[in-house]
Amino acid sequence: MNKVAIVTGSTSGIGKACVELLLKAGVDVIGLGRSDEKINQMIASFSAIGNAKLTMVKGDLSTNHDVLESANALIEVIKSSYEGKLDILFHVAGRVSSGYHENEDGNEVTFATNHLSVFALTHYLYPFMLSSNDPRILVVSSRSHYRASINYKNLQNKSFYNILKAYKRSKLYNVFFVKAFASKMKHIPIYAIDPGLVNTQIGMKGTNKLAQYFWQKHAARGTDAYYPSGFMLDIALKPEYKDLSGHYFLEGRVVKSNPITYRLDHIEHVWNESLKYAKINQYFTHK
Ligand SMILES: NC(=O)c1ccc[n+]([C@@H]2O[C@H](COP(=O)([O-])OP(=O)(O)OC[C@H]3O[C@@H](n4cnc5c(N)ncnc54)[C@H](OP(=O)(O)O)[C@@H]3O)[C@@H](O)[C@H]2O)c1
Repeated sequence: MNKVAIVTGSTSGIGKACVELLLKAGVDVIGLGRSDEKINQMIASFSAIGNAKLTMVKGDLSTNHDVLESANALIEVIKSSYEGKLDILFHVAGRVSSGYHENEDGNEVTFATNHLSVFALTHYLYPFMLSSNDPRILVVSSRSHYRASINYKNLQNKSFYNILKAYKRSKLYNVFFVKAFASKMKHIPIYAIDPGLVNTQIGMKGTNKLAQYFWQKHAARGTDAYYPSGFMLDIALKPEYKDLSGHYFLEGRVVKSNPITYRLDHIEHVWNESLKYAKINQYFTHK
Protein backbone atom coordinates (compact mmCIF):
# COMPACT_ATOMS: atom_id res chain seq x y z
CA MET A 1 0.00 0.00 0.00
CA ASN A 2 1.25 3.52 -0.82
CA LYS A 3 1.96 6.01 1.95
CA VAL A 4 -0.87 8.51 2.39
CA ALA A 5 -0.59 12.26 3.02
CA ILE A 6 -3.18 14.90 3.87
CA VAL A 7 -2.52 18.34 2.38
CA THR A 8 -4.53 21.38 3.51
CA GLY A 9 -4.59 24.41 1.23
CA SER A 10 -4.27 21.88 -1.60
CA THR A 11 -6.09 23.82 -4.30
CA SER A 12 -3.55 26.56 -5.01
CA GLY A 13 0.01 27.80 -4.58
CA ILE A 14 2.40 25.77 -2.42
CA GLY A 15 -0.21 23.20 -1.38
CA LYS A 16 -1.13 22.41 -4.98
CA ALA A 17 2.53 21.96 -5.94
CA CYS A 18 3.00 19.64 -2.92
CA VAL A 19 0.05 17.53 -4.07
CA GLU A 20 1.55 17.12 -7.54
CA LEU A 21 5.02 16.24 -6.22
CA LEU A 22 3.64 13.79 -3.64
CA LEU A 23 1.58 11.98 -6.30
CA LYS A 24 4.62 11.84 -8.59
CA ALA A 25 6.62 10.35 -5.69
CA GLY A 26 4.00 7.59 -5.37
CA VAL A 27 2.30 8.94 -2.24
CA ASP A 28 -1.50 8.88 -2.14
CA VAL A 29 -2.95 12.29 -1.26
CA ILE A 30 -6.11 13.40 0.50
CA GLY A 31 -6.41 17.08 -0.39
CA LEU A 32 -8.56 19.50 1.56
CA GLY A 33 -10.12 22.35 -0.42
CA ARG A 34 -12.90 24.85 0.19
CA SER A 35 -14.16 25.46 -3.35
CA ASP A 36 -16.09 22.93 -5.47
CA GLU A 37 -14.73 24.45 -8.65
CA LYS A 38 -11.08 24.12 -7.56
CA ILE A 39 -11.68 20.62 -6.18
CA ASN A 40 -13.03 19.54 -9.57
CA GLN A 41 -10.02 21.13 -11.30
CA MET A 42 -7.67 19.21 -8.99
CA ILE A 43 -9.39 15.92 -9.80
CA ALA A 44 -9.27 16.67 -13.53
CA SER A 45 -5.58 17.64 -13.42
CA PHE A 46 -4.07 15.07 -11.08
CA SER A 47 -6.16 11.92 -10.98
CA ALA A 48 -4.06 10.05 -13.47
CA ILE A 49 -0.52 10.51 -12.10
CA GLY A 50 1.36 7.19 -11.85
CA ASN A 51 -0.09 4.69 -9.43
CA ALA A 52 -0.83 7.17 -6.62
CA LYS A 53 -4.39 8.15 -5.83
CA LEU A 54 -5.81 11.63 -5.18
CA THR A 55 -8.95 12.02 -3.08
CA MET A 56 -10.33 15.53 -2.59
CA VAL A 57 -12.35 16.47 0.49
CA LYS A 58 -14.32 19.68 0.89
CA GLY A 59 -13.82 21.68 4.07
CA ASP A 60 -13.07 25.08 5.54
CA LEU A 61 -10.65 25.87 8.38
CA SER A 62 -11.79 29.23 9.69
CA THR A 63 -13.97 28.25 12.68
CA ASN A 64 -13.82 25.55 15.35
CA HIS A 65 -16.90 23.90 13.87
CA ASP A 66 -15.48 23.99 10.32
CA VAL A 67 -12.21 22.42 11.48
CA LEU A 68 -14.08 19.61 13.25
CA GLU A 69 -16.25 19.00 10.16
CA SER A 70 -13.15 18.98 7.92
CA ALA A 71 -11.40 16.56 10.30
CA ASN A 72 -14.41 14.23 10.30
CA ALA A 73 -14.56 14.22 6.49
CA LEU A 74 -10.81 13.48 6.30
CA ILE A 75 -11.08 10.74 8.94
CA GLU A 76 -13.86 9.10 6.95
CA VAL A 77 -11.47 8.70 3.99
CA ILE A 78 -8.61 7.52 6.26
CA LYS A 79 -10.88 4.84 7.72
CA SER A 80 -12.61 3.74 4.51
CA SER A 81 -9.56 3.71 2.18
CA TYR A 82 -6.46 3.48 4.42
CA GLU A 83 -7.40 1.11 7.27
CA GLY A 84 -7.34 4.03 9.71
CA LYS A 85 -3.68 4.94 9.05
CA LEU A 86 -2.28 8.34 8.10
CA ASP A 87 1.44 8.80 7.35
CA ILE A 88 1.98 12.47 6.54
CA LEU A 89 0.15 15.69 7.37
CA PHE A 90 0.97 18.90 5.47
CA HIS A 91 -0.52 22.03 7.07
CA VAL A 92 -0.31 24.49 4.18
CA ALA A 93 -3.60 26.45 4.23
CA GLY A 94 -3.17 30.08 5.20
CA ARG A 95 -4.48 33.56 4.60
CA VAL A 96 -3.91 37.26 5.11
CA SER A 97 -6.62 39.79 5.73
CA SER A 98 -6.64 43.56 5.36
CA GLY A 99 -9.51 43.90 7.81
CA TYR A 100 -10.24 42.63 11.30
CA HIS A 101 -12.83 39.84 11.24
CA GLU A 102 -14.08 37.72 14.10
CA ASN A 103 -15.53 34.28 13.49
CA GLU A 104 -18.52 32.71 15.28
CA ASP A 105 -16.23 31.58 18.13
CA GLY A 106 -15.09 35.15 18.75
CA ASN A 107 -11.62 34.39 17.33
CA GLU A 108 -9.84 36.68 14.87
CA VAL A 109 -9.98 34.89 11.51
CA THR A 110 -6.27 34.97 10.50
CA PHE A 111 -5.37 33.65 13.97
CA ALA A 112 -8.10 30.99 13.66
CA THR A 113 -7.21 29.86 10.13
CA ASN A 114 -3.41 30.04 10.25
CA HIS A 115 -2.79 28.85 13.80
CA LEU A 116 -5.85 27.46 15.58
CA SER A 117 -6.84 25.16 12.70
CA VAL A 118 -3.31 23.68 12.67
CA PHE A 119 -3.52 23.15 16.43
CA ALA A 120 -7.00 21.55 16.33
CA LEU A 121 -6.67 19.54 13.10
CA THR A 122 -3.48 17.95 14.43
CA HIS A 123 -5.36 17.03 17.62
CA TYR A 124 -8.10 15.30 15.61
CA LEU A 125 -5.76 13.53 13.17
CA TYR A 126 -2.64 12.53 15.14
CA PRO A 127 -4.23 9.34 16.61
CA PHE A 128 -4.37 7.94 13.05
CA MET A 129 -0.67 8.72 12.59
CA LEU A 130 0.28 6.51 15.54
CA SER A 131 -0.40 3.47 13.30
CA SER A 132 2.17 4.68 10.73
CA ASN A 133 5.75 3.40 11.00
CA ASP A 134 7.09 6.73 9.66
CA PRO A 135 4.65 9.53 10.54
CA ARG A 136 5.57 13.18 9.88
CA ILE A 137 3.81 16.54 10.22
CA LEU A 138 4.89 19.67 8.33
CA VAL A 139 3.60 23.11 9.32
CA VAL A 140 4.19 25.95 6.87
CA SER A 141 5.31 28.98 8.87
CA SER A 142 7.03 32.01 7.33
CA ARG A 143 10.18 34.10 7.48
CA SER A 144 7.93 36.95 8.62
CA HIS A 145 7.73 35.23 12.04
CA TYR A 146 11.21 36.64 12.78
CA ARG A 147 9.67 40.11 12.90
CA ALA A 148 6.81 39.11 15.22
CA SER A 149 6.56 39.75 18.93
CA ILE A 150 4.32 38.20 21.55
CA ASN A 151 1.89 40.13 23.73
CA TYR A 152 -0.02 37.95 26.21
CA LYS A 153 -2.75 40.59 26.51
CA ASN A 154 -3.28 40.81 22.74
CA LEU A 155 -2.53 37.33 21.35
CA GLN A 156 -5.21 37.60 18.67
CA ASN A 157 -4.50 41.23 17.72
CA LYS A 158 -7.96 42.26 18.84
CA SER A 159 -6.52 45.67 19.74
CA PHE A 160 -4.66 47.66 17.08
CA TYR A 161 -5.28 45.11 14.31
CA ASN A 162 -2.87 45.35 11.43
CA ILE A 163 -2.67 43.00 8.42
CA LEU A 164 1.04 42.29 8.68
CA LYS A 165 1.15 42.06 12.47
CA ALA A 166 -1.72 39.55 12.48
CA TYR A 167 -0.09 37.43 9.77
CA LYS A 168 3.39 37.48 11.32
CA ARG A 169 2.03 36.54 14.75
CA SER A 170 0.02 33.65 13.32
CA LYS A 171 3.22 32.32 11.74
CA LEU A 172 5.10 32.82 15.04
CA TYR A 173 2.44 30.70 16.75
CA ASN A 174 3.03 27.99 14.11
CA VAL A 175 6.62 27.75 15.37
CA PHE A 176 5.53 27.71 19.04
CA PHE A 177 3.09 24.92 18.17
CA VAL A 178 5.76 22.82 16.41
CA LYS A 179 8.10 23.15 19.40
CA ALA A 180 5.34 22.32 21.91
CA PHE A 181 4.02 19.33 19.95
CA ALA A 182 7.55 17.98 19.43
CA SER A 183 8.24 18.08 23.16
CA LYS A 184 4.90 16.53 24.14
CA MET A 185 4.55 13.84 21.44
CA LYS A 186 7.80 12.04 20.75
CA HIS A 187 6.30 9.41 18.40
CA ILE A 188 5.39 11.84 15.60
CA PRO A 189 8.12 14.10 14.16
CA ILE A 190 6.92 17.62 13.35
CA TYR A 191 8.69 20.36 11.40
CA ALA A 192 8.21 24.12 10.88
CA ILE A 193 8.76 25.09 7.25
CA ASP A 194 9.97 28.44 5.92
CA PRO A 195 9.08 28.38 2.21
CA GLY A 196 10.86 31.66 1.46
CA LEU A 197 9.14 34.22 -0.73
CA VAL A 198 6.90 32.39 -3.20
CA ASN A 199 5.00 33.91 -6.09
CA THR A 200 1.43 32.86 -5.24
CA GLN A 201 -1.97 34.54 -5.03
CA ILE A 202 -2.12 34.62 -1.21
CA GLY A 203 -1.92 38.42 -1.05
CA MET A 204 -4.71 38.82 -3.60
CA LYS A 205 -7.37 37.13 -1.44
CA GLY A 206 -9.07 38.88 1.48
CA THR A 207 -7.02 42.02 0.89
CA ASN A 208 -7.66 45.60 -0.24
CA LYS A 209 -6.32 47.16 -3.45
CA LEU A 210 -3.30 48.70 -1.73
CA ALA A 211 -2.23 45.40 -0.16
CA GLN A 212 -2.75 43.66 -3.51
CA TYR A 213 -0.56 46.21 -5.26
CA PHE A 214 2.28 45.70 -2.79
CA TRP A 215 1.91 41.93 -2.77
CA GLN A 216 2.07 41.69 -6.58
CA LYS A 217 5.27 43.73 -6.70
CA HIS A 218 6.82 41.82 -3.78
CA ALA A 219 5.76 38.32 -4.88
CA ALA A 220 7.17 38.83 -8.38
CA ARG A 221 10.61 38.43 -6.78
CA GLY A 222 9.63 35.08 -5.27
CA THR A 223 10.25 31.53 -6.44
CA ASP A 224 7.62 29.33 -8.00
CA ALA A 225 5.65 27.05 -5.69
CA TYR A 226 7.58 23.91 -6.72
CA TYR A 227 10.77 25.25 -5.15
CA PRO A 228 9.74 25.05 -1.45
CA SER A 229 7.53 22.03 -2.20
CA GLY A 230 10.59 20.05 -3.31
CA PHE A 231 12.27 20.62 0.06
CA MET A 232 9.03 19.86 1.86
CA LEU A 233 8.85 16.50 0.12
CA ASP A 234 12.40 15.69 1.22
CA ILE A 235 11.50 16.50 4.83
CA ALA A 236 8.34 14.40 4.61
CA LEU A 237 9.99 11.36 3.03
CA LYS A 238 13.75 11.16 3.50
CA PRO A 239 15.15 9.16 6.44
CA GLU A 240 17.72 11.79 7.46
CA TYR A 241 14.94 14.14 8.65
CA LYS A 242 13.30 11.63 10.95
CA ASP A 243 15.27 12.68 14.03
CA LEU A 244 14.97 16.44 13.49
CA SER A 245 11.56 16.96 15.08
CA GLY A 246 10.74 20.41 16.46
CA HIS A 247 13.13 22.34 14.22
CA TYR A 248 12.60 25.20 11.76
CA PHE A 249 13.68 24.50 8.17
CA LEU A 250 14.77 26.76 5.34
CA GLU A 251 15.52 25.09 2.01
CA GLY A 252 15.72 21.71 3.71
CA ARG A 253 18.23 22.85 6.33
CA VAL A 254 17.72 23.42 10.05
CA VAL A 255 18.09 27.11 10.85
CA LYS A 256 17.44 29.06 14.07
CA SER A 257 13.94 30.44 14.40
CA ASN A 258 13.09 33.71 16.16
CA PRO A 259 14.89 33.64 19.58
CA ILE A 260 11.57 34.02 21.41
CA THR A 261 10.38 30.68 19.97
CA TYR A 262 12.85 28.94 22.33
CA ARG A 263 11.22 30.44 25.45
CA LEU A 264 9.43 27.61 27.26
CA ASP A 265 7.09 30.04 29.04
CA HIS A 266 5.89 31.42 25.68
CA ILE A 267 5.58 27.93 24.16
CA GLU A 268 3.40 26.77 27.07
CA HIS A 269 1.37 29.99 27.17
CA VAL A 270 0.42 29.78 23.48
CA TRP A 271 -0.38 26.07 23.88
CA ASN A 272 -2.65 26.65 26.89
CA GLU A 273 -4.46 29.62 25.34
CA SER A 274 -4.95 27.64 22.12
CA LEU A 275 -6.63 24.84 24.08
CA LYS A 276 -9.14 27.42 25.35
CA TYR A 277 -9.74 29.15 22.02
CA ALA A 278 -10.11 25.84 20.14
CA LYS A 279 -12.30 24.49 22.98
CA ILE A 280 -10.20 21.35 23.40
CA ASN A 281 -10.08 19.93 26.96
CA GLN A 282 -7.56 17.17 26.60
CA TYR A 283 -5.22 17.37 23.61
CA PHE A 284 -3.70 13.89 23.75
CA THR A 285 -6.72 11.64 23.96
CA HIS A 286 -5.16 8.33 22.91
CA LYS A 287 -3.53 7.69 26.28
N1 LIG B 1 3.68 32.86 -0.75
C1 LIG B 1 4.67 33.14 0.14
O1 LIG B 1 5.62 33.90 -0.15
C2 LIG B 1 4.63 32.52 1.50
C3 LIG B 1 5.70 32.81 2.36
C4 LIG B 1 5.70 32.26 3.63
C5 LIG B 1 4.67 31.43 4.02
N2 LIG B 1 3.65 31.16 3.17
C6 LIG B 1 2.58 30.27 3.63
O2 LIG B 1 2.40 29.24 2.69
C7 LIG B 1 1.09 28.70 2.82
C8 LIG B 1 0.46 28.57 1.44
O3 LIG B 1 0.30 29.86 0.91
P1 LIG B 1 0.45 30.20 -0.64
O4 LIG B 1 1.45 31.28 -0.73
O5 LIG B 1 0.63 28.97 -1.41
O6 LIG B 1 -0.95 30.91 -0.93
P2 LIG B 1 -2.29 30.37 -1.61
O7 LIG B 1 -2.01 29.92 -2.98
O8 LIG B 1 -3.32 31.41 -1.38
O9 LIG B 1 -2.62 29.09 -0.73
C9 LIG B 1 -3.32 29.17 0.49
C10 LIG B 1 -4.23 27.98 0.56
O10 LIG B 1 -4.98 28.01 1.77
C11 LIG B 1 -6.35 27.81 1.46
N3 LIG B 1 -7.18 28.46 2.46
C12 LIG B 1 -7.21 29.76 2.82
N4 LIG B 1 -8.15 29.97 3.74
C13 LIG B 1 -8.73 28.78 3.98
C14 LIG B 1 -9.78 28.35 4.82
N5 LIG B 1 -10.45 29.19 5.61
N6 LIG B 1 -10.14 27.06 4.83
C15 LIG B 1 -9.48 26.17 4.02
N7 LIG B 1 -8.47 26.52 3.19
C16 LIG B 1 -8.12 27.81 3.17
C17 LIG B 1 -6.53 28.43 0.08
O11 LIG B 1 -7.69 27.95 -0.57
P3 LIG B 1 -8.14 28.51 -2.03
O12 LIG B 1 -7.29 27.76 -3.03
O13 LIG B 1 -9.59 28.17 -2.09
O14 LIG B 1 -7.85 29.98 -2.03
C18 LIG B 1 -5.25 28.00 -0.59
O15 LIG B 1 -5.38 26.68 -1.11
C19 LIG B 1 0.33 29.64 3.76
O16 LIG B 1 0.28 29.07 5.04
C20 LIG B 1 1.21 30.89 3.76
O17 LIG B 1 1.07 31.62 4.97
C21 LIG B 1 3.60 31.68 1.92
